[in-house]
Amino acid sequence: MGFAVPSDLVVLLLLISTQAVHLRKCPRTCVCDDVKLTVACVRKNLTRVPTAVSEITVKLDLRGNNIQELPTGAFRHIPYLTHLSLHRCAIQRVQEGAFRSLGRLVFLDLANNNIEILYQESFDGLSSLKQLLLDHNRVEEIQPGAFSQLGFLNLLSLTHNQLVYLPNMAFQGLQNIKWLRLSHNSLNNLAPEAFGSLLTLARLSLDHNELQLPQVTRLDLGHNPITYLGEETISMPKLTHLFMDHMSLQDFSMAALAFSPRLVHLDLSHNQLRVLQPLVGPAQLTRLNLTGNPIHCSCYLRPLREWALSGFVRLAGACARPPHFSGENLEALHPTELRCQSQEAMLEAELEEINRATLTTTPVPRIPSEHRRAYKLHTDRAGIKPNLLFHLHQGETHHSSCENRGHTKVPHGFSPDTRFLDLRDNHFHYIPSHSFRGLVQVVSLHIQRCKIHELEGATFSGMKALVYLYLSENDLSSLSAQTFRGAPELTYLHLEKNKFARFPWEAFKLLPNLLSLHLEHNAISRLEQGVLAGAKRLRELYLTGNVINMVAPNAFDSASALDTLHMGSNQLKEVPAEALGKLSHLAELRLSKNPIRWVGPSAFLPLAGSLKHLYLNGLGLEKVRGWALAGLGPGLQSLFLEENQLEEVPLLSPLTGLKVVNLAENPLLCDCALLPLRKWIDTVNLTVSATCGHPSELRGQEVKDVKIFKSCPGEGSPPTKQKASKTSKPKSTHQCTCPKIAPVKKIPS
Ligand SMILES: *[C@@H]1O[C@H](CO)[C@@H](O)[C@H](O)[C@H]1NC(C)=O
Ligand SMILES: *[C@@H]1O[C@H](CO)[C@@H](O)[C@H](O)[C@H]1NC(C)=O
Ligand SMILES: *[C@@H]1O[C@H](CO)[C@@H](O)[C@H](O)[C@H]1NC(C)=O
Repeated sequence: MGFAVPSDLVVLLLLISTQAVHLRKCPRTCVCDDVKLTVACVRKNLTRVPTAVSEITVKLDLRGNNIQELPTGAFRHIPYLTHLSLHRCAIQRVQEGAFRSLGRLVFLDLANNNIEILYQESFDGLSSLKQLLLDHNRVEEIQPGAFSQLGFLNLLSLTHNQLVYLPNMAFQGLQNIKWLRLSHNSLNNLAPEAFGSLLTLARLSLDHNELQLPQVTRLDLGHNPITYLGEETISMPKLTHLFMDHMSLQDFSMAALAFSPRLVHLDLSHNQLRVLQPLVGPAQLTRLNLTGNPIHCSCYLRPLREWALSGFVRLAGACARPPHFSGENLEALHPTELRCQSQEAMLEAELEEINRATLTTTPVPRIPSEHRRAYKLHTDRAGIKPNLLFHLHQGETHHSSCENRGHTKVPHGFSPDTRFLDLRDNHFHYIPSHSFRGLVQVVSLHIQRCKIHELEGATFSGMKALVYLYLSENDLSSLSAQTFRGAPELTYLHLEKNKFARFPWEAFKLLPNLLSLHLEHNAISRLEQGVLAGAKRLRELYLTGNVINMVAPNAFDSASALDTLHMGSNQLKEVPAEALGKLSHLAELRLSKNPIRWVGPSAFLPLAGSLKHLYLNGLGLEKVRGWALAGLGPGLQSLFLEENQLEEVPLLSPLTGLKVVNLAENPLLCDCALLPLRKWIDTVNLTVSATCGHPSELRGQEVKDVKIFKSCPGEGSPPTKQKASKTSKPKSTHQCTCPKIAPVKKIPS
């Protein structure tokens, strides 16, 4: 289909539960879900935004309608929306103030419409918006101030439009923008300060335009996954400083800058360049930064060195190869030292290098930390499919696939510069040693669902750049200590949905950089002493859905960096407090759905300094001792206690940092003993879902709405506060005369 760009970025959209319950108000042709508070009216030929939508709706999916024009205040009746899709709605015009009132919206998809002009007030009111997709429209004009109210926007995507010119300060107001996508327009003219004010931008995508940029003197293209820069790609007569660092450049045409004669400073650091020819054109160049490239100091580099010497160009960077020059500064080399061995000798050296697992001088495509975070954020929090920000950018990086071809052996002959290798859904059963020889640049390897029951050892040897390895949904039950020999950069390892009955701890000792380990849905029953020995940097451990019933007190002894531990849906009968006590950086702990009936005193005290998110939902908990949460103070941001058997609730007032607390689906006993909770709910600025289970006449009512507390000692005048908060809390718009609305649930994993 023709809309690959936005859809691969965001597939989240609005998943509608199959057993959708109809909201009180639901337009006739739409599907409404009372639990998730979503409304979907997809491809219904609607010509207007439906008005018969419940006010508390949070996600509205209007893809594929025929709306043509969005009038001012079009969404005034649904102010709590967080996600809105107007994808492919034939919209031509967005009137000023169309989205006013949507102060909670975080995601807006307007892609595949016919919008021509972004008016000054088109996006007014979207003060929480994080992602705005406008790809595949006909935008040719951005009026000044169009984005001035989007102070939280991270991603603005305007690819495949008809922009020719960007005025000064076109993006004024985008104070948190991380990524601006302007690919596939007809830009040929940028005002000198067009990108002024974009102080937080990490990525700018400008490929497929007609840029000449006559006035620009500094251009920063860093962190774009561009692999090749062709002839005359950057022709900017006044350009003096060009930054192309942290990209994926493997080749750089000597004429790439032929029409940028004033260039003084060129930063090509942290790319994948092995060699570079003398540059034609920028005769005034004084600095060329090649730091962090795998420069091969052979005869092929000699012309560059000679050119730098004669033109007084200072070179920064060092040789990665051959071994006897490894680490040598480029500046220190005389051209005559740059020699070539015979072809054969060179090949040999190359092979030797592949086999040297510990080689550190060749830089590996490191993922900048902000991208790692983005990746995690997208997968875990926002529900957005990982968009593989950095190495999957379409058409620009090397991507090989043999997905689902019935292979029984790992095929050979992939291009050695492959960076993403997809071998899912084949039938390998067994993978011998060195099966991926020569694939030194692969960053991400996918071998899910390949019926693998054995990896011989040193299977991935030579994969020096491998960061992501997906072995999910195979039949592995053990791993040898040598399995990952020769892949020392492995950082994210997926082993979920295999057949491990034992924690395969021996294998991780060779992975000093392992940061995230997925072992969900295996059959592990015990975590013995020292299972994490060797994985010193491990930050995330996912063990959901095993049958763990025993955690040795010293199981986590060497994993002091761990900050996320998921152990939901196991067989634990108690909180493994002693083992957890060693995890001094643990921020997120999930123990949901274990048969833990009570939590003893001070169970989480050792984690008091670090814990931010605690999941104790679905345990069948009958009692949380008053002091079970002892020590947890302002640091705790979320507490999930829903779906338990609690009749009373420990004092929550010390948890002054709470942002989310869920007490729903507990049979709370609504009498005066619960008054402290009731009072606390009134004083905090939180949506607290807590409903009464007893006495029976109050069953199902929200604790904050029942009147019974008025007669309790210590409670004088009737509470009025919750009325006042009505406008800021969607839940309170439904008072108790109507049936209970189930709280928005977190999906326990
Ligand atoms: C959609 O609506 C337009 C006019 O509003 C009408 O001409 C067209 O036939 C409708 N299409 C469908 C599939 O209902
Ligand atoms: C070259 O780039 C590296 C890393 O980007 C930087 O640390 C260094 O200061 C730069 N050197 C020069 C001379 O600009
Ligand atoms: C309550 O929270 C809202 C939104 O998070 C914030 O704007 C407001 O200032 C808060 N009020 C108090 C009293 O903290």
